[in-house]
Formats: sequence, C-alpha cells, structure tokens
Amino acid sequence: MGDSDLSRVVVAGGTGLVGRALVKALLAQDAEVVVITRHPGSTVLPAGARAQGWDRLAEALEGSDAVFNLAGEGIADRRWSPRRKKALLESRVGTTEDLVEGLRACGHRPAVLVNASAIGYYGAQDDTPVSELTPAGKGFLPEVCMAWEAAALPARDLGVRVVLPRIGVVLAREGGALPKMALPVRMFLGSRLGSGHQGLSWIHRHDLVSLFLEAARNPAWEGPCNATAPEPVSQETFIRALAKRLHRPLLPVPGFLTDAALRLLLGEMGRDLLLRGAYVHPMKAEAQGFAFRYPTPEEALENLL
Ligand SMILES: NC(=O)c1ccc[n+]([C@@H]2O[C@H](COP(=O)([O-])OP(=O)(O)OC[C@H]3O[C@@H](n4cnc5c(N)ncnc54)[C@H](OP(=O)(O)O)[C@@H]3O)[C@@H](O)[C@H]2O)c1
Repeated sequence: MGDSDLSRVVVAGGTGLVGRALVKALLAQDAEVVVITRHPGSTVLPAGARAQGWDRLAEALEGSDAVFNLAGEGIADRRWSPRRKKALLESRVGTTEDLVEGLRACGHRPAVLVNASAIGYYGAQDDTPVSELTPAGKGFLPEVCMAWEAAALPARDLGVRVVLPRIGVVLAREGGALPKMALPVRMFLGSRLGSGHQGLSWIHRHDLVSLFLEAARNPAWEGPCNATAPEPVSQETFIRALAKRLHRPLLPVPGFLTDAALRLLLGEMGRDLLLRGAYVHPMKAEAQGFAFRYPTPEEALENLL
C-alpha cells in the first residue's frame, strides 16, 4: 500500500499549542485545512485554513483524507477539582466520540484518524524503560487516556485506520511546559523537584508535528505509539540541562521541601504531573525508522532557548 494523500485534512483542536504548528505544516505542504473549534466565528487562523464548529463535523469530514484530533481542556491549566477532572475527561472522550459519529455519517471517509493520547496512560512508573507494550498505570491520568483511546478505536470498524500517539511533554518556545519550567530557572529559583529521579519524557514540537504527519501518511502506523524523544531523562537531568542552557545555577533545595510545596500548592495535579513520571521510549516510531531532529534535551533546548 502506498502513502496516504494529505490534500484535504481536518484538525480538531487545531488552535492549540500543537494544533497551530500542525496546521502550519499542513498548509506549507499545500493541504486544504479545516480546523474544528468551539469558536469558529472568532478564531484567527493562518491564511489558507478554514474554521468550522463541532456542529458541522460531518460536513467537514466528508471527502477529507485524514483527521487529527487534538481537542481537550488543558491538563495543567488549573488544580484538579472533581469538576475539573470531569471536564478534562469529558472534553477528550466527548470530542472523540463526536468525531467517530461524524465519520460514521460520512459517505467518503478519511483513511486515517490520528487521535491524541498521552504518556499519562502509563501513570507513575519506576526507572524501568516504558514501551507501547507496558500496560496502563493506575490513577486519574491513566483512566482518562484509556477512555480517550477506547473512544477512538470504534473508527476502525468503519474502515478508518486509527493511530493513537501517546504524547510526552511537548517542548515549544511559546507555550506548554517549557516556559513554565524556564521561568524560575531564569529567576535563579530553579531546583530539582522532589527526588528528581522521576522520568521526564518529552518531545520537541517540531518532531511531534513530523511524527503526526508521518503517522497519517504511512499505513504501517496503527494503534498506540509513543510520541516522545528517544532520550527520556530524569527531572533532575532535564532541569540541569535547562539551567546550563540559561547560564543559571540551581538552588540546592532539599527534595522533601519541593515535594511538600508542590503537593500543597497544586494537589494531585502537582503530584502526578511534576513529582511522578516515566521513562517512555518511542519503540514503534523507531521501528518505523522515524528520524528525530531533536533527539536529546540539549539539542531541543539549544533550538528553543
Ligand atoms: N502539550 C503537551 O505537553 C501535551 C502532552 C501530552 C498530551 N497532550 C495532548 O495533546 C492535545 C493537544 O495539546 P495542546 O498542548 O496543543 O493543547 P491546547 O493548547 O490546550 O489545545 C487544545 C485545544 O482543544 C480545544 N479545546 C479545549 N477545551 C475543549 C473542550 N472542552 N471541548 C472541545 N475542544 C476543546 C481548544 O480549541 P478551541 O478553543 O479552538 O475549541 C484548544 O485549542 C491535547 O489533547 C493534550 O492533552 C499535550
């Protein structure tokens, strides 16, 4: 089977940190892009892209070649109250279900659905390398990711290839985790968090966009695939690389203090996103021969900072 064409593409959640870059890359390759957004009337998109609301999904999907789904409330935007957790879950599962229903209603369906998932699937792991064969972890994030992936899989019954990139911490200049991590370091307030031994599995946004495009084009990509750089590191190694890049020292704060402070300030979110982690390896991407432009934290940080 040859590579899938990407002439007409739908990007749900195409206004976010990852989606904006993906839309730009698609437009640069002369694709016709429809962005599904909650605010089709007011969203400003790059020239050439068209905004459409969730109520006109089937119309957007009809006759397109591929659909990417990146929609979901921001996981790290605020503390996880029970209400917030419900919104985090429902904004992912609900949008994915809507997309699958939209696909069902199509006469001419896209060949592929690339539906975002996250390394949160694996939950907190020790320093044993994690691959796509590692089972789901325990807790809120694994539950969200399992439900999110399960909502996408019925598209297979419609003859649509489903790819589920389990995305690591996305590094980009203008948003997401990196500016938040860099700020205290710039202010001479950087330190390791907790023990610092927790795995930090990251990916440069440029590589993530390339991986999404490759996964959509190449029919050999199917099911879950880790969208992380080949060199996951400990939180302490990452923050040291960041401090070195910014020519700043780190504060020798005892681990138990940052641990207690983050749990107090951010609750379960601080614990699960900052104090725990996993060393996730992109086994499937590497098996496909995917070439990362920024394989190490040093190379990514040099480009971004
Ligand atoms: N960034 C990371 O480090 C990272 C890591 C792992 C996984 N991921 C996953 O990858 C996806 C894209 O990440 P991102 O950083 O680009 O996210 P983002 O910047 O927060 O963008 C997500 C988009 O989802 C849409 N959205 C938000 N709430 C929604 C809701 N309740 N219903 C429907 N749509 C909603 C928004 O579009 P409109 O406002 O235009 O509707 C928004 O632009 C997310 O699902 C995220 O969980 C990201």
